[in-house]
Amino acid sequence: MNYNPAPAKIGDTLEEIDTPALIIDLDVFDSNVDRMANRLYGSKSRLRPHSKSHKCPSIARRQLDAGAIGVCCQKISEAEVMVEGGIRNVLISNQVVGQKKCDRIAALSKLAEIAVCSDSLLNVEELANASLRFNTEINVLVEIDVGTHRCGVLPGDEALALAKLIEKTEGLHFSGLQAYQGRAQHMRTIEERRKAFEIVEDAVRMTVELLKENGLTCQIIGGGGTGTFELEAASGLFNEIQAGSYIFMDADYGRNLDSEGLPVSEFGQSLFVLATVMSTAVRGQIVVDAGLKAFSVDSGLPLLADFSDLEFTRASDEHGIIQLQETGLEPSLGQKIRIVPGHCDPTVNLHSWIVGVRGGVVECLWPVSAQGANF
Ligand SMILES: Cc1ncc(COP(=O)(O)O)c(C=O)c1O
Repeated sequence: MNYNPAPAKIGDTLEEIDTPALIIDLDVFDSNVDRMANRLYGSKSRLRPHSKSHKCPSIARRQLDAGAIGVCCQKISEAEVMVEGGIRNVLISNQVVGQKKCDRIAALSKLAEIAVCSDSLLNVEELANASLRFNTEINVLVEIDVGTHRCGVLPGDEALALAKLIEKTEGLHFSGLQAYQGRAQHMRTIEERRKAFEIVEDAVRMTVELLKENGLTCQIIGGGGTGTFELEAASGLFNEIQAGSYIFMDADYGRNLDSEGLPVSEFGQSLFVLATVMSTAVRGQIVVDAGLKAFSVDSGLPLLADFSDLEFTRASDEHGIIQLQETGLEPSLGQKIRIVPGHCDPTVNLHSWIVGVRGGVVECLWPVSAQGANF
């Protein structure tokens, strides 16, 4: 039996939410959703937000209502959850390798508009097999490596060769280019992000022109995240922006700086792990009931939203240790405090529910339906 009760009821106050719980401040969340939609409104770039951040069809529908054209997913299992949740346009911005998984893409393509990325001949063959078996057509984007050195063929001739192969393969349709620069998202200064983006821009422009000379058009040119979306949008090259974290933000994005050298403030921190102080027995520290099973630490330890001068120093499975200062405010035993996770995406994946709070009262409970859908 999979029994994952929600940590709160609609109408509960913040104090009544059981902990650790993943909560969002709905006023800030709404403002983030609308702000990104407004920033892209009127530009050539449409928003296709990344659902890897929230894994929650209720949030995807809210983004679509604000003008998004569809969502990105990273895994076929995430895409299946999104389609099941009513999302009809999904780009898997990643490679899906293996015949069994490719068959699932073909099956999903019969239910919704699906596209997937590829960077190898073998994978193109698997996708084509799947497509023929399921009597459908699969939309395929060529991923190019624009500086992240994670996945993707080289821009230019390598991309052209793969695109040509896709286009001439029965059961496949060449849909465009995936050009995401992941490393640039968290480069701290705007100058560093601009410099990284110059390479992206040159690579995409050159590849698009080469494809055009060879009779291949890109319906989709996708990329961009919360850290660089305005560069992709301003380039006039990208017609799809894949930002994800902007709806929640996290401590890591909080360290990015704007053109004035100040922390980027366009999107507010809406996501928190609510925790309870469970022990004050050891002098000089307090312990909260949220540790590695409640937040990820890949981008550093969390911050304390309500006690910014206190430092989170250690986390174990179910405990978080916070160092006290000689002077100043300190949370008391039993008190609930809000923790800002270091990295929002893997933190969300640790929770079954997102508790939406407005004005200190629980307004909605959203299941993280794709929690653990990492396959
Ligand atoms: C391919 C791709 N696109 C978009 C994003 C979204 O980036 P962010 O959450 O930083 O906005 C990611 C995040 O890792 C990604 O891998």
